[in-house]
Amino acid sequence: MQFPEYRLRRLRQTETLRRMVRETTLSVDDFIYPLFVVEGKGVKNPIKSMPGIFQFSIDEAIKEAKRAFELGIPAVILFGIPAQKDASAFSAVAKNGIIQRAIKEIKNAVPELCIITDVCLCEYTTHGHCGIMEGNSVDNDTTIEVLAEIACSHATAGADMVAPSAMMDGQVAAIRERLDENNFHNIPIMAYSAKYASAFYGPFREAAQSAPKQGDRKAYQMDFANSDEAMREITLDVEEGADIIMVKPALAYLDIIRRAKEEFDLPLVAYNVSGEYSMVKAAAQNGWIDNDKVMMEMLTAIKRAGADIIISYFAVEVAQLLKQKNIYETTNHK
Ligand code: PBG
Repeated sequence: MQFPEYRLRRLRQTETLRRMVRETTLSVDDFIYPLFVVEGKGVKNPIKSMPGIFQFSIDEAIKEAKRAFELGIPAVILFGIPAQKDASAFSAVAKNGIIQRAIKEIKNAVPELCIITDVCLCEYTTHGHCGIMEGNSVDNDTTIEVLAEIACSHATAGADMVAPSAMMDGQVAAIRERLDENNFHNIPIMAYSAKYASAFYGPFREAAQSAPKQGDRKAYQMDFANSDEAMREITLDVEEGADIIMVKPALAYLDIIRRAKEEFDLPLVAYNVSGEYSMVKAAAQNGWIDNDKVMMEMLTAIKRAGADIIISYFAVEVAQLLKQKNIYETTNHK
């Protein structure tokens, strides 16, 4: 069929028609909401570079988790910021650590909410790197043992799923093995498989107080110029026992998301990271772009590229918008 008999504009004439032929739609089920948890009571510290996002003490995190779950968001991913850091990330495995208490208390308050935990050392180490240092570099093989210990302590505290993000070789296998030895064979691993060394994590490091004091993460996170290597990373994680795989960041990596979707049949997560969120907020605050429209366009594009699940600081906002009848219509008329 060809023009003038065939006209693609016919199916674009009204919102009803567009709704009928829309190929991708967002659902509240698609989202995981990140929460930053700090010590204290009644604490709700705004993160300057991420308007609308806060560091919460456990009591406040419970309120926020409830609000998210009531909006239909199925899961949160928790990041703990301990009062004290050291070189060996001791506080990451403390029975009474910030994250262990947060898991327990949020689980008690909102039992059906899926609690995922980020398994990494950077928030707990004085040097801010994602593992145990040996001279100037992160020692892979000692680090994966610590990661396994952390994952196990999260599971013991009641986490429903663990998400290793340190980009150490063999971390998924080490965690799987340790979980299984401790009777946690039913705890899934969401692997940060293709995690790039990205400047888009800037605002997160303010939120989680986890910036490396020296150097960068290029010796363990991936080079943003690579795509084949991402497939190798994912292959290894799948072989090591990952239940869910991840590409991170999302927006500048839609090609990687698409490729991962085509090459693997595991549930695929995309992490819509802090810098991607902050850029939208900053431009919207200046009146340069429309927050809601850009948010919907970005998140829909991440799903269109192939993500089954999206970790996003927009999760609550999007859930609120999705409660309206037809969000595309609503945003069109704003
Ligand atoms: C921990 C971790 C980071 C992010 C998630 N887990 C920071 C990093 O690797 O430096 C980034 C998330 C974001 O930017 O939103 N390693």
